Amino acid sequence: MLKIINVVGARPNFMKVAPIIEAMTRREREFTPLLVHTGQHYDADMSDAFFRDLDLPAPDIHLGVGSAPRDQQIAAVEARFEPVVNTEKPDWVIVVGDVNSTLACARVSKKLGVRVAHVEAGLRSYDPTMPEEANRVETDRIADLLFTPSADADENLRAEGIASERVRLVGNVMIDSLQKHLPQAKASPIREKLALTDDQYAVVTLHRPSNVDEVQSLGRIVGALEEICERTTIVFPVHPRTRKTIAELGFSTRLLGLKNLQMIEPLGYLDFLGLYSGARLVLTDSGGIQEETSVLGIPCLTLRENTERPITVSLGTNKIVGTDTATIVREAFVALDAGLKPAVAIPFWDGHTAERIVNILAQ
Ligand code: UD1
Repeated sequence: MLKIINVVGARPNFMKVAPIIEAMTRREREFTPLLVHTGQHYDADMSDAFFRDLDLPAPDIHLGVGSAPRDQQIAAVEARFEPVVNTEKPDWVIVVGDVNSTLACARVSKKLGVRVAHVEAGLRSYDPTMPEEANRVETDRIADLLFTPSADADENLRAEGIASERVRLVGNVMIDSLQKHLPQAKASPIREKLALTDDQYAVVTLHRPSNVDEVQSLGRIVGALEEICERTTIVFPVHPRTRKTIAELGFSTRLLGLKNLQMIEPLGYLDFLGLYSGARLVLTDSGGIQEETSVLGIPCLTLRENTERPITVSLGTNKIVGTDTATIVREAFVALDAGLKPAVAIPFWDGHTAERIVNILAQ
């Protein structure tokens, strides 16, 4: 019997851990999964809604760390996670993605001699200014088992000299959640509630510090949204960090004045999937949304200079456009003219990634 601590901290972790816990629960003779929530995200719509939508069991342990600058947040997670590992003595700690909680819990496990598995290992933007890039590189150095989503990730790890015995290409676990919940999400009343017609609107999400914490970059993006919403309705579920900086940097009046732009609160998993799966275009700086839109064949413009998910560009629907106003507008108009693309199958993004992870752990 393997006792496994699964760690979640922030919004993009929940849909990655849910299928893994489900797969372990199906094999209850072999696995005792525990769920630890660090509390990096704590708002009802950034955390609770995802537990409900994804059928995640309530956390066994909640560390309640809350928001803080990166180093302080990592230190707080480390201090609170250490006694949990000492008490529970798990066989494995599983961390997912690239958020601060991922790195903090990997560090503690390593220090205490507990084996760590990293799900979504090997992704690299090669952009040292991203906190997530620092989290990815260090977590991958620490982890005993590296579960990668795509072959490019294996190549990145090989180039860093990581032994191939530690690396397993298992696919993209987020797609397990997407496939499972798509029918239910399609039935969400969100499109009707916002008076949207399928294929006639765009969705935008923004939360990267480099885009939303700085007046120039946020200004360039706001300028682009002003022009794009002359052609189409835009729905913008606003991340709490972004809501704060839009107000502080003085963009509220401009955005609220756009009659074709609907700024709404962040949505839960099902409503958000229900929303973007009916869109004609998505503009985002999220990592996960580049992957989800690729699988669904929805054109995605990534408002960043790089991506750690190049397969979404080579095989999927993603285009990296940066944050220059004219470029965003031009590419948005091209995408709006072209409409949906045929969804392509990306190798191992097939809804069975959690099964593969659990099979490997059981060996
Ligand atoms: C974090 C992750 C990022 C991920 C994103 C998804 C890191 C380094 N970043 O960024 O990779 O894509 O989550 O959302 O781990 N806040 C609330 N309520 C909450 C959570 C946050 O109001 O429930 C506000 C706080 O003001 C906080 C700010 O948002 O200071 C930023 O939160 P934080 O967790 O530090 O980073 P995110 O920008 O959410």
